Amino acid sequence: MTITSADAMKREAAGRALAHVTSGMRLGLGTGSTAAHFVDLLGVRVREGLDVLCVPTSQRTRAQAQALGIPLTTLDEMPELDLTIDGADEFDARLRLIKGGGGALLREKIVAAASKRMFVIADATKQIETLGAFPLPVEIDCFGARATQLHIERMAHGLGLSGPITRRATASGAPYITDGGHYILDCAFGAIPAPELLAANLVAIPGVVDHGLFIGLASAIFIGGADGVRVICEAA
Ligand code: 5RP
Repeated sequence: MTITSADAMKREAAGRALAHVTSGMRLGLGTGSTAAHFVDLLGVRVREGLDVLCVPTSQRTRAQAQALGIPLTTLDEMPELDLTIDGADEFDARLRLIKGGGGALLREKIVAAASKRMFVIADATKQIETLGAFPLPVEIDCFGARATQLHIERMAHGLGLSGPITRRATASGAPYITDGGHYILDCAFGAIPAPELLAANLVAIPGVVDHGLFIGLASAIFIGGADGVRVICEAA
C-alpha cells in the first residue's frame, strides 16, 4: 500500500508507536496534529480495556484525551512516567529535535524529561540534515520581553547565527500566550550547526524560559513515509 497524504503518514507513525504501549504504563501525551492522532488511537484502545494513566502536555491535549475517556493525571500526582509520545517540527539522524510549533514546548520538555523514554512520531518531511529550517521557538517571560529578545539576537550573532526573530501572534494579531503564560519568539536562524551550544547559550539568558531544541530526550523516532513506517533509535 502506498500512503499519499502527510496526515495518513502521521497516523501510521502514531499507530506504530501505540503498538509499544501496554497496560499499566504511565504515559506522557504530546501536542500537535501528529500527537492528536496518537491520542485518538489510544482512546480506542482504552475503550477496549487498555489500562493506562496519562499526563497531557497542553490544555488542548487534555481536552481531547478527556473527551475520549482516557484516564488523566498530573506530574504532581505522578512525577515519573514510562513513556512520552509526541510529534516534532524537525529532527535529524542523531534524534535531535526542534519542537514548539504548536506552542507547547515547555510542558512537552518537562513531561519528556520526566519519562524513561520519549517516542517521536512524525511524517518523513520532518527529517532534515541540519536543524534550523524550521524557525526555532523560544519561550520567554512576558516581563522585559524586548530586552530578552535583544539579548538572544546578540548571543546568536556571536555564534554566527542571524535571521529574523518574530514574537508569535494569534490569528487576530494578539500576542500568542502559552499555557504557562509566556510569549514565544520564533527565531529564523536557518541552519544551526551546533545545536548543543545554542541550547546552552539560550538557557543562560535571563527571561528565556526554555527553547524548542530537544537534545538527548528522544529514544526512537517513528517516521511515516509513502512505503510505511521506518524507525530510528538512539545508539545502545
Ligand atoms: C507542539 C509541538 C508539535 O509536536 C510540533 O509542532 C509538531 O506538530 P504537528 O504534529 O502538528 O506537525 O512541538 O508544541
